[in-house]
Amino acid sequence: MQESGLDRIAVLGAGVLGGQIAWHSAYRGKTVYVYDPFPEALERARAAHQGYADIYSDSFGADDAAIEAARNRLSYHSELEPAVGDVDFVIEVVPEVPEIKTGLYQQLAPFLDDRTLIATNSSTFLPRDFADATGRPSQYCALHFANMIWALNVVEIMAHPGTARSTLEAATHFAIEIGMVPVPVRKEQHGYVMNSWQVPLITSSLSLVATGVASIEDVDRTFMIVNRGANMGPGGLVDMVGFKTAYDISSYWGEVRSDDEMRTVAAFVKERFLDQGLQGRMGGEGFYTYPNPAYEAADFLDVPDASVVSKIVNATLVSTST
Ligand SMILES: NC(=O)c1ccc[n+]([C@@H]2O[C@H](COP(=O)([O-])OP(=O)(O)OC[C@H]3O[C@@H](n4cnc5c(N)ncnc54)[C@H](O)[C@@H]3O)[C@@H](O)[C@H]2O)c1
Repeated sequence: MQESGLDRIAVLGAGVLGGQIAWHSAYRGKTVYVYDPFPEALERARAAHQGYADIYSDSFGADDAAIEAARNRLSYHSELEPAVGDVDFVIEVVPEVPEIKTGLYQQLAPFLDDRTLIATNSSTFLPRDFADATGRPSQYCALHFANMIWALNVVEIMAHPGTARSTLEAATHFAIEIGMVPVPVRKEQHGYVMNSWQVPLITSSLSLVATGVASIEDVDRTFMIVNRGANMGPGGLVDMVGFKTAYDISSYWGEVRSDDEMRTVAAFVKERFLDQGLQGRMGGEGFYTYPNPAYEAADFLDVPDASVVSKIVNATLVSTST
């Protein structure tokens, strides 16, 4: 047993982030039960895990034995009880919708062993919002991972006033055991550290596109040139986050905060992407098409030749006349 005591884990929600947390934890030696009530989500997670196996082989030199061992430590479940009945740790990675999270915690409680700890991967909610619903508030905290967990290995740890020290010790050991840099969030904060700037960045960028100020390519070009070395801009970022989660966050906080910019972004995301069945990078298409998005092209940031002048002038004239 490792120092955290958290060797058997359940990941609830097999979407964009749940799939990554599950694969990465299995690769780093944890036994992982993946739960999602939707069989098609489990199928997508299996396919994503094949893709992650390729990434870990190509980028981290993982050999066949390590990949096979990770696969053998993973199991997939559409029923809750068998997925959580004998685990040390549950990581909740379901949609950023309070009713879904609360409902799942209540459904989960009777199946858990007394020892089991719970963490949420929520991007914008506070642990105190759900602590009581878990039925074990002292064993509950937030553990917020970043998308592309294998490369962006940071995890933010946030407690609520009733979280026990022992829970935070175990969660922090767990983070280190799976190769994460743990970042303590010293006060409960909507958006932690990462999303305190990523959500406004995505909101303001999508708002520029939604209101016709700039194309997503030009937003991304500007971002990538100004933030030297960035390998994607906000458009690539939101493709990676996924439009379902981007919508959940902008529609919820748009209403709660009466924030017109977020409401505009929510409506834009729904109409332009979700209503067209476009989920983002995981589904192969968002602002860009994958696996070869335009922003990765060698000439994306090049100074253009003079043939584009009239196109740029036309766009500029239109925008000044409206
Ligand atoms: N996408 C990101 O980049 C990112 C990054 C950090 C944190 N997060 C957070 O992680 C959580 C999940 O986000 P995501 O982007 O992976 O969402 P997602 O929509 O890709 O996946 C959510 C999954 O939860 C499943 N689900 C729905 N109801 C469920 C239930 N009752 N029980 C179990 N599973 C259920 C869905 O079928 C889906 O597979 C959210 O809280 C989000 O804010 C997301």
